[in-house]
Amino acid sequence: MMTSIAKAHDVAYVRFRAPDLSKMHSFLLDFGMRDAEIETDRLFMRGFGASPFVHATEIADTPGFAGFGIRLPDLDALRRVAAHDGIEIHPLDAPGGGMVARLTDPDGFTVEAVAGQTPAQPVALPDRAPWNEGGAYPRRNDFRRAERGPSHVQRLGHVVLGVSNFRRSEQWYKQRFGLVTSDEIQPQPGVAIGAFMRCDRGDQPCDHHTIFLLERPAPPGYMHAAFEVADLDDLMVGHEHLKHAGHTHYWGIGRHFLGSQIFDYWRDPWGNEIEHWTDGDQLVAADGGGIGHIPELMGVQWGMPMPPLPGGEPA
Ligand SMILES: [Fe+2]
Repeated sequence: MMTSIAKAHDVAYVRFRAPDLSKMHSFLLDFGMRDAEIETDRLFMRGFGASPFVHATEIADTPGFAGFGIRLPDLDALRRVAAHDGIEIHPLDAPGGGMVARLTDPDGFTVEAVAGQTPAQPVALPDRAPWNEGGAYPRRNDFRRAERGPSHVQRLGHVVLGVSNFRRSEQWYKQRFGLVTSDEIQPQPGVAIGAFMRCDRGDQPCDHHTIFLLERPAPPGYMHAAFEVADLDDLMVGHEHLKHAGHTHYWGIGRHFLGSQIFDYWRDPWGNEIEHWTDGDQLVAADGGGIGHIPELMGVQWGMPMPPLPGGEPA
């Protein structure tokens, strides 16, 4: 196992370019985010959790993915990563401040290593009563009413990128950020085309995947970013809200195999895929990893089957 330069704690945010910030703003409010900072040429949105922002849009004629942030535990880790790539550290000009090193991955994606952000004050969620299930009925004389409206986005959970050479990208990310493989995707024994990778937080649990890299026939590109919502009711009412607001649905609702999340995928006004999820698997570093096969990658435990991937299926 390679020794990494640092160990990332989580993904921090995704960045996009778009020609119309008010259109993006309106979509992200419907998606369940909150305002962090709105400027004439930049839009920063947060969730209900402690991240100062989870989604940033910069005004530009050509819409598209502009990179993502990976949070490191401290400035020492950030300095080591920056020194390794021979780049400078700068103040992060965004809500929460902190410092950033802008790296470029093997496919040209901008990866912002960040540390020292000032956390935002988490926003309280509406009260949620327990479920009456499995023969236990903790909710009595307490009527379940799921409040209509957008979901409540908690945090950015993972980022998925299509890459041109999985092994090259895997090595790049693992070397800098200490990621651990949860499930390597092998269409045939010994042939890897991707991996669900998580952060190494030692004995502290973290999501089954934080970054998923997939080598596929299509050119390298952003695939999706996934935001955790409060719970199943929250995901379902958010689905209804997005549908009634006329946004474009892509895939869901269903439950994945790899990571086990209940998921719901949408497209922003420029077609970027963006996911709501809840109830994902949690692992510690010692839990190790496994092999995932194409039917588990593409399939669902229940719910809507996966639509065809642009550029063909990764098999
Ligand atoms: Fe996802």
